[in-house]
Order: sequence, then C-alpha cells, then structure tokens
Amino acid sequence: MFEQQPEKLQLHIKQLATEALQTAEPSAWFEVLYAEAQGDATQVPWAKLAPHPYLQDWLTNHQPFASRQKALIIGCGLGDDAEALAKLGFEVTAFDISPTAIAWCQQRFPNSTVNYLVADLFALPEKWHLAFDFVFECRNIQALPLNVRFSVISSVTSLVALGGTLLVITRVRDTEAEPNGPPWPLSDLELQQFESLGLQQVEKLVFLESEQVEVKQVRIEYQRHNSI
Ligand SMILES: C[S@@+](CC[C@H](N)C(=O)[O-])C[C@H]1O[C@@H](n2cnc3c(N)ncnc32)[C@H](O)[C@@H]1O
Repeated sequence: MFEQQPEKLQLHIKQLATEALQTAEPSAWFEVLYAEAQGDATQVPWAKLAPHPYLQDWLTNHQPFASRQKALIIGCGLGDDAEALAKLGFEVTAFDISPTAIAWCQQRFPNSTVNYLVADLFALPEKWHLAFDFVFECRNIQALPLNVRFSVISSVTSLVALGGTLLVITRVRDTEAEPNGPPWPLSDLELQQFESLGLQQVEKLVFLESEQVEVKQVRIEYQRHNSI
C-alpha cells in the first residue's frame, strides 16, 4: 500500500485518513479517494491494474482447484484479484466499502462472472458466516487502525468455511509498538489472532517489497479444519 506514490498524494491520504480517524469512521476516506480519482487509477496508490503477484504465485502452485469453489475477495479495490480467481473457475464474490470502486470494477469488467458488491467488513451479511472455500485478504487490515484490529481480524476469519482457506497478504512490523499509519502493519501478536479464532497456519512466506526503503510483507495461508 502507498508504494512509490508522489509525495503530494501521500500527504493527501494521510490527511484524509486522519480526518476519518477523528470522526471514528476509519473506513470513510476510501470512498472519498476513489471518487476524487475520477477514473484515473494513478490516483489510487495501491491500484496496479493487475493481480497481486504473490496471489498469482500461490494460485499457480495450488492448482487444480475443485470446480465452482466459492471465493470471497475482501476490499477488492479495482477488481484484478477477483478476476484472476474467476478465470480459474471460482464462483467469486468481491466486495468493497466504496461504491465508486465497485462501479469502477463493473465498468472495467462488464462481462465478468464476479459478483461485485458494496459491503462493510464491520457489518457483514449473516449468510457469509463460514460460507467461503477461499477468502483473500490483501492489504485491507493494514489500512485500518489498531483500535479496530481485533474486530477486523474476527470478521475476516468468520468468513472461512469448514475446510476452507484464508490467504492473507500484509505488511508486518517487528515490534508491538503502535505504528504511525496509514498503513498500520500487523504485529506477531495480531497475526496470532487468526489462530486463536480457530484457523491453522499452513504456510508463511516473508518477502520484501522493493521501494526506496524495503518493506517487510508476509503471505500466510490459513485453513479451517473440517470440524469445529
Ligand atoms: C489499501 S486498499 C487495498 C485494496 C486491495 N485489497 C489491494 O490489495 O489492492 C484497502 C481497500 O479496502 C477497502 N475498505 C476499507 N475499509 C473497508 C471496510 N470496512 N469494508 C470493506 N472494504 C473496506 C477500501 O475501500 C480499499 O479498496
């Protein structure tokens, strides 16, 4: 998140996020940012108009999938990760809190089989509880402050079906001290919450994102066992 963005955009995002935090609505600024971009993806710093390379890599090494598995993409942004899963035959639902982002996805992929929806991680539909075989969480938790971290991790975890997989890609931090976000990378203790909430870690890959300063990231695969 916020890679290689011009300083002006970075400052603007910091200001939008700070205002949103002051009104206790940490997700409120995303719609403002997408709307202000007016269809120009260069104004959305995380939008690369391509699937995340570490999702692609994971998918390449985990095929074949059973047919018509249900996948959910959290905070789907402009839709490239959702489209990558749809191409592999997943029945994909992708949601974002920003109506502009969702309309943008529908405009970019008019013939898509993905079900793009406006929804809020803090108020998920009840029918999504334990409903998805594959859940993809990429750089959304880190975009929300620490005071909502436990609730966001609980929401993400609640979506994974029995026997299902959660793939998380996120920045991580080396201490428990509160970072000066956004973004707010995850700590070891925070990552442990996925396991205390009933998932088992299957695989963890640490990688560095090349920027002016290297940023530590992880891709973690979790599974929920077939019985609770
Ligand atoms: C940093 S972006 C990451 C987008 C995408 N996952 C990626 O990796 O490119 C965070 C995304 O989460 C969405 N988001 C923020 N708060 C949300 C919430 N409460 N519910 C659903 N989506 C949310 C934002 O609109 C934005 O698209």
